[in-house]
Amino acid sequence: MARPSKDEIHFLLLKLHSLTGIIPIGAFLVIHLSINSLRTVGVLPYQLSIDVLNNLPFLILIEIGFIYIPLLFHSLMGFYVVHIGQTNVFRYKYKRNWLYTLQRLTGAITFVFLIYHMGTTVGAKLWEGKHHFEAAPFLMDILNGEFQTWQGIVVYTIGIVSATFHFSNGLWGFCVSWGILTGKNAQRNGAIVFAAMGLGLTFLGLATILEFNMNPVPVEATVLR
Ligand code: HEM
Repeated sequence: MARPSKDEIHFLLLKLHSLTGIIPIGAFLVIHLSINSLRTVGVLPYQLSIDVLNNLPFLILIEIGFIYIPLLFHSLMGFYVVHIGQTNVFRYKYKRNWLYTLQRLTGAITFVFLIYHMGTTVGAKLWEGKHHFEAAPFLMDILNGEFQTWQGIVVYTIGIVSATFHFSNGLWGFCVSWGILTGKNAQRNGAIVFAAMGLGLTFLGLATILEFNMNPVPVEATVLR
């Protein structure tokens, strides 16, 4: 079999960059914001969701394989795409080019937010050795404190809006470049559906912040009898 050329490898890496933005990263974002929004239903459902996650077998392998490696690849490739200054494959109108610029900006903002967010949640948890049922009270204490300060609320609001915009606008770009949305009408309708989805996700994230802010309840570690 002939070895792939430099151009073919480049093309493949760009396609993989686009794909990892949807699966697994985009899928993770939808699940993550949905699970966090359980906090608006009550403290117990939220605590149980953290308990389930932190008692999964091979948790660290799942996180490395399905979250950290794809996230690192997608982020580094994203910065590379910005660096090489790749222009639009399609000749978009003014508005589309604006969205394209915002796509890059929100990618960079989300990257910085993630360093902060992961460092202060999962990083702090690992550092303090809070595993299994000890994770939930520890993480909820951190979040309760975070959302009592205006700085915490601003950082999370920016992080959530950036991530949901980056994902929903990226989903449109993915569908166009992979030939799923062809034709003007399909692309316009797709844009409306993905914008609605992005707004829905943003709403879930902001509602979660508001609930933590108004109702910062500490919890004890779950005890199995
Ligand atoms: C209301 C907003 C959010 C809350 C309350 C929240 C809460 C949390 C918590 C508690 C953890 C630690 C989970 C654990 O170790 O058991 C976590 C991890 C994480 N969050 Fe968030 N998050 C929010 C928004 C976001 C956003 C917008 C993103 C994406 C940009 C994000 C990406 C991540 C990632 C990648 C991890 C590490 C996943 C893991 O190691 O399991 N989060 N988050």
